[in-house]
Amino acid sequence: MTEQAHPEWDANYTADTSAPWDIGRPQPAFVRLADEGCLTGRLLDAGCGTGENALLAASRGADVTGIDVAPTAIARARAKASERGLAARFEVADALDLGRLSLTVDTVIDSGIYRRIGQNPCSRDASKSRHRRPPSPSSGRRPLPHRRRSRIITGTFPCQSSASQGKGGPHERWAPGLLREGGNGYRRDKGVHLMVTVGGLPTQSAVDQVLSTTRCVRKGLDTTREVPRELIEDCLRVAMQAPIGSNGLYPHFVVVTDPGKRAAVAGFYKQAWDAYLPLPFSAANLHFEDPVHEAQQAPTVSSAAYLAEHLADVPALVIPCITPRVDGMPLWVQACIWGSVLPQSWSFMLAARARGLASAWTQIHIQFEEEVAAVLGINHAEVQQAALIPVAYPHREDFKPAYREPIQKFTHWDSW
Ligand SMILES: Cc1cc2nc3c(=O)[nH]c(=O)nc-3n(C[C@H](O)[C@H](O)[C@H](O)COP(=O)(O)O)c2cc1C
Ligand SMILES: C[S@@+](CC[C@H](N)C(=O)[O-])C[C@H]1O[C@@H](n2cnc3c(N)ncnc32)[C@H](O)[C@@H]1O
Repeated sequence: MTEQAHPEWDANYTADTSAPWDIGRPQPAFVRLADEGCLTGRLLDAGCGTGENALLAASRGADVTGIDVAPTAIARARAKASERGLAARFEVADALDLGRLSLTVDTVIDSGIYRRIGQNPCSRDASKSRHRRPPSPSSGRRPLPHRRRSRIITGTFPCQSSASQGKGGPHERWAPGLLREGGNGYRRDKGVHLMVTVGGLPTQSAVDQVLSTTRCVRKGLDTTREVPRELIEDCLRVAMQAPIGSNGLYPHFVVVTDPGKRAAVAGFYKQAWDAYLPLPFSAANLHFEDPVHEAQQAPTVSSAAYLAEHLADVPALVIPCITPRVDGMPLWVQACIWGSVLPQSWSFMLAARARGLASAWTQIHIQFEEEVAAVLGINHAEVQQAALIPVAYPHREDFKPAYREPIQKFTHWDSW
């Protein structure tokens, strides 16, 4: 056993029957969190047991480390990871001594450990009602007083100890600013705690936050509020920081705010939508085996249809363009041209999100590219339109990461 192993906890896993909390599958609360896209990035499962919650996160694309003081549990977790072809790491380590791991993580999950620090409430020799009752004084496993537990926990996550002024139980105390109940930072769900940004540098997590919550917003665009010109220019300035081919292929952006021109462009967009919808590859006709992904298709179509009806009302339509046109170019040159306008367009959407705006990536209007060019005075013979990004203030701002299928499915190491 390693220095950090804890024989008393390990006994829960070497006994003939499985540990009472070990249900052989992820806890339902974590399945819900995973479905909401919360189990992402670099994730630590503290007190992972035999690893079901950690493996769930790994299967959804998180970069997972699971730790536990019970070596037998860790051995089982490793075996499951190998059987399931998942890349999660499992280590025998003490959740109260995370410094030794030298880990930087975005998310920490715990199921039944931090709130029980200092006790082994489910230990084999505890009474039958052990889930409800703290161990007796004679068991030698008295729970620590609340205040002391809180101190241990703040010490465990030193980057947040200065913020430990909140109210409530120890979890609320250690980072009231970051761990907002019900917000992006912190969730409580039947005793399960999800904590975000425990170890990561604030700048890294802010970037990841914007990268993972810049959603395609359509119904949520507030068409009653004007977007200041300076704000859009500010986003465009940031967008121009994306790489450009040959250090010379600058993209252009046509920003349409004039109501008459918006209406004309929106008219072509609606025609393009009507032509796109019955196509075999339209969102309405694509189906997926993954049930969560499949369930997203109908709302996506409903939202896209709404935008097609209301595009004229959106205060700003940003059309990224590039010259020369790609028509007839060799594929590698086309890749260079598209690669010099699409990253800038996405950077624009990210910068907009970071400034409290919302947007949506669209491009079906290109079916009527020449007609739209005529409305906007774009020289169609020379200039290629790449997208059409409606921009507005959002009705609400609590955007969450979207569900995406596990990254393993789409990652090919060394050969496809
Ligand atoms: C290349 C590309 C083209 C798209 N074209 C359109 C479009 O023309 N109209 C539209 O409403 N959404 C369009 N979308 C948005 C997708 O439908 C959107 O990404 C999807 O609904 C998922 O939303 P999410 O990114 O917020 O998870 C496009 C997205 C991409 C990447
Ligand atoms: C109630 S069990 C939950 C196990 C797992 N999270 C699950 O949901 O199945 C608590 C786990 O925390 C582990 N544990 C207790 N104290 C720990 C510590 N200081 N560091 C790491 N793991 C610990 C125990 O070995 C046990 O596996």
